[in-house]
Amino acid sequence: MTLHTILKMGDPRLLLTAQPVTAFDTPELHRLIEDMRETMAVANGAGLAAPQIGVNLQVVIFGTGAVVPRYPDAEPVPRTVLINPTITPMGDEEIEDWEGCLSVPGMRGVVPRWARIRYQGFDPLGGVIDRVAEGFHARVVQHECDHLWGKLYPMRVRDFSRFGFIEVLFPELSDQADD
Ligand code: NI
Repeated sequence: MTLHTILKMGDPRLLLTAQPVTAFDTPELHRLIEDMRETMAVANGAGLAAPQIGVNLQVVIFGTGAVVPRYPDAEPVPRTVLINPTITPMGDEEIEDWEGCLSVPGMRGVVPRWARIRYQGFDPLGGVIDRVAEGFHARVVQHECDHLWGKLYPMRVRDFSRFGFIEVLFPELSDQADD
């Protein structure tokens, strides 16, 4: 396994549209996922997309399995590897809430997201994933999949009076990592 450096906003590789995975259950794919898992764990993140470590493929991982200290009010999100995803909003309700990102360290912003979504894609073996999600789960999926379309959450912030540094906005969380 290899710990990767997480690319930061400003790196043009974070603005690309990622390519679909064409071969499942390969040593290369499993290695990529292991590297992403380890990199996310060390960074204390709730999710990571392959482009964030410079791999331009449609692979995201997310999930907490338990309550994340930085999001103490958020419900647990199932640990998931999601490949070649699509997201369909269910209804037109949006919810605004705070987000951070490992590629935008030290910052938080309020981002509108679909309240309820259906997401579909594949697991590393090529098995179908087809779920309905809401709340924090839906937010994490939308945030991570945005990385595959070259979108970082600050691009979705509408009110920049609610965007800033964690140490100023949430001093009680400033010892925690981002995302
Ligand atoms: Ni992110």
